[in-house]
Amino acid sequence: MNIDGKSYRSIWLNPDGWSVDIIDQTLLPHQLRIHTLQTAEDAAEAIYSMRVRGAPLIGATAAYGMALAMTEGADDDYIELTRKSLLETRPTAVNLRWALARVSEALQAAPVDARAGLAYALAQRICDEDVRINASIGTHGLGLIEGIWKEKRGTAETLNILTHCNAGWLATVDWGTALAPIYRAHDAGIPVHVWVDETRPRNQGAALTAWELAAHGVPHDLIVDNAGGHLMQHGMVDLCITGTDRTARNGDVCNKIGTYLKALAAFDNEIPFYVALPGPTIDWSTADGVAEIPIEERDSREVTEVSGRLSDGEMGTVRITPDGVTARNFAFDVTPAKLVTGLITERGICPASEAGLASLYPAREFS
Ligand code: MRU
Repeated sequence: MNIDGKSYRSIWLNPDGWSVDIIDQTLLPHQLRIHTLQTAEDAAEAIYSMRVRGAPLIGATAAYGMALAMTEGADDDYIELTRKSLLETRPTAVNLRWALARVSEALQAAPVDARAGLAYALAQRICDEDVRINASIGTHGLGLIEGIWKEKRGTAETLNILTHCNAGWLATVDWGTALAPIYRAHDAGIPVHVWVDETRPRNQGAALTAWELAAHGVPHDLIVDNAGGHLMQHGMVDLCITGTDRTARNGDVCNKIGTYLKALAAFDNEIPFYVALPGPTIDWSTADGVAEIPIEERDSREVTEVSGRLSDGEMGTVRITPDGVTARNFAFDVTPAKLVTGLITERGICPASEAGLASLYPAREFS
């Protein structure tokens, strides 16, 4: 990803070979500030506070958290202690569990004095794989968008795609999942226009997706979360693409709260609703997403307060509710597979079903 002509990933190892830098996403779009992780605790804090967020990036940060821990102590007990404390940071994105299991299992099998080096190598590999996976999601998604544009070309000047939350390069190591096909389509000369759901309460759409799309030059408009249904009824949406934090083996997808309502509206209006996902988002151990996926509930102040840039240019938080109001903050919801037109993966596009997923992942890896 380029910002002002400089190429960035969302996480990287510093030249000291030890500390890890991230972009502090709690400050975007107002400040581009790099935040340094020096301990496993720093990595856990960054995930919990959402300085980093998005399922693939959470997994990559946790892998680096394990590497930082190995410079503090590399015995079996410390591996397990660190794995557990990183796992507790956020419950829904399955990439976290997957990355931690991958790193900790490899560490347990290695001699103690080789563990730190191995952990850094694995964290780097997870990051590089994520970039390759997302680039491939972009290629498969481009084919889909080209097909839809071919049918529409001649009758319209733009292809309108609606997305929810941020499943762009900031949510991954680079490229993004849902946004990767959009970047590729834009670069291929297809006149895509994106409807960006603001995504209350943390406003990942308003703050992050709008910022990313602007940086890449992709035309877009920000809309309030409740606008999508209206736009769909009036022929103003050709396609929806979202990400997912956990994909059950039956094809149910768990993504940012509000995704389900968009899928319902798309279904009612016969608009294709696709979900883009990397293999490590599939949870083969979950048979029924609606019944089984744990839904994170966050601090209610994220609902009662809004943060942003004040008129004096400083960052600030304001309360928008009566004092004493009680609020609940469910961070994710599950969209049943029957509402999903297809899953865009790094291995191709498949139906949202167990048979569909198994056709692309016959070994059922990544669990
Ligand atoms: O709470 P967040 O910001 O971590 O939620 C992120 C999402 O819901 C994304 O859509 C999902 O992680 C897919 S990212 C490629």
